Amino acid sequence: MDKVIILDFGGQYKQLIARRVRELGVYCEIHPYTKSLEEIRKMDPKGIILTGGPASVFLEESPSYEKALFETGIPILGICYGAQLMAYRCGGEVKTAPTSEYGHAELIIGSGKDPEAAAGSLLMAGVARSSGCWMSHTDYIAVPPKGFTVTAHTADCPVAAMEDPFRRLYAVQFHPEVVHTDEGTKILRNFVIDVCGCAGDWEMAGFAQRTIAELREKIGNGKVLLGLSGGVDSSVAAALLSKAVGKQLTCVFVDHGLLRKNEGDEVEAVFGPKGDFELNFVRVNAAKHFYKKLADVTDPEKKRRIIGAEFINVFEEEAKKIGHVDFLAQGTIYPDVVESGTGSGGAVIKSHHNVGGLPKHVDFKEIVEPLRSLFKDEVRKVGLELGLPRKLVYRQPFPGPGLGVRIVGDITEEKVRIVQDADAIFREELARAGIDTGAGQFFAALSNMRSVGVMGDGRTYDYAVVLRGVLTSDFMTAEAAEIPWSVLQTCMNRIINEVKGVNRVLYDLTSKPPGTIELE
Ligand code: XMP
Repeated sequence: MDKVIILDFGGQYKQLIARRVRELGVYCEIHPYTKSLEEIRKMDPKGIILTGGPASVFLEESPSYEKALFETGIPILGICYGAQLMAYRCGGEVKTAPTSEYGHAELIIGSGKDPEAAAGSLLMAGVARSSGCWMSHTDYIAVPPKGFTVTAHTADCPVAAMEDPFRRLYAVQFHPEVVHTDEGTKILRNFVIDVCGCAGDWEMAGFAQRTIAELREKIGNGKVLLGLSGGVDSSVAAALLSKAVGKQLTCVFVDHGLLRKNEGDEVEAVFGPKGDFELNFVRVNAAKHFYKKLADVTDPEKKRRIIGAEFINVFEEEAKKIGHVDFLAQGTIYPDVVESGTGSGGAVIKSHHNVGGLPKHVDFKEIVEPLRSLFKDEVRKVGLELGLPRKLVYRQPFPGPGLGVRIVGDITEEKVRIVQDADAIFREELARAGIDTGAGQFFAALSNMRSVGVMGDGRTYDYAVVLRGVLTSDFMTAEAAEIPWSVLQTCMNRIINEVKGVNRVLYDLTSKPPGTIELE
């Protein structure tokens, strides 16, 4: 299988580069710049992409790479910082500009002196003479190294692209991976297909078949345990493992009583005895247990800790009944791997917990993570491929602690019922209105506020439901979605009429930051 390696120098767009390359049908992996040349050679890449990064290549403490990297004959594309590093290491000159070039710029093919300098360039083949590109840099390549041709420039950047085709070294100062660079995809395609010679035939169908065969080989006759949450990642992992080893797989699904309306039954319908998959399915209905543990607890972090800890406890109890297992399976996906590898060291805003986290007392030999090389949308494609229902595959992200972080204050059975019912109505109306919920999260939550209302001729003193809809691409920042007024009004009417205990409906306009997506 063709593989491209992305060497990360601290660039914020590294995952985007990987996405783009994979969209071109080429498998790629992100690795830190500290990977040794020997390790890289062992991976046998068809090409290497060097990411951007915030440092200056000429400073002692900056991330760097030995010169030998540029002498391997493996095609390299340096992007932004990666381009400067290539220039610096190969003997060119990198300088700091008095002002940064940030945002849109006009990319002009050819060098300032020679408009035909890019003629015959594989990287720039078919790229328009003039197009928009996205810049984000302060340092720039002032003088390219010997042997390099300048193939593009902008008004402020004399070397927007350069190459030495004989050494198979290519560099762009702008960011081809962002959508604002008009010809970005073409340039990346030219690199991975025409320069590196990748076939561009990597696809999910192949992935599923390959992974099933690999899992079969690895697991042999062993027993596998998987914590199933009903979310897309663990569901796809379950489907793959079921196809690979059937009844050797046991899925434990802990229903903590904080799921969305009917979610527990939906998961059971797919994976339980009446479902389509061959596996052992254990559903633990632990709602009462969780409500008891959470009674009168109001502190959000304490609630999260209790739910996380109890989840593991219940899971372990079940696992003990199964006895020794050889493999513990997890639905880890690529962004989890990349993020945990870099370690932000930032402030703890919320202690996230994922259903299916690593139990301490389960007796197993090894962990299997069949999805650890895939992005979310790739996981979805595999899910559809394996015959999982669309509703499950396109399920919105749902936090591990579930409705526990959507009910402000203490949790009671009544409050859970209110949020479940209101949430079901909200999502039903959004679907009816054809509002695309693909790029965000839409849900109902319960404020801990009760207020006075009038219904019929009587006074009410009931809860206020909060409707929240956010659009986001990475869940790190988000903006409130503009839901049509008429849709919101229908939701308000239905919730107040159909959900007992609610007399007020609010729409949350807060973006993130300063708010978070969930209420707790
Ligand atoms: P916040 O509320 O921090 O949420 O803006 C960002 C995204 O993370 C999800 N979320 C969680 N996911 N375990 C999870 O698996 C958690 O404990 C957790 N808390 C929040 C949230 O739904 C949103 O998508």
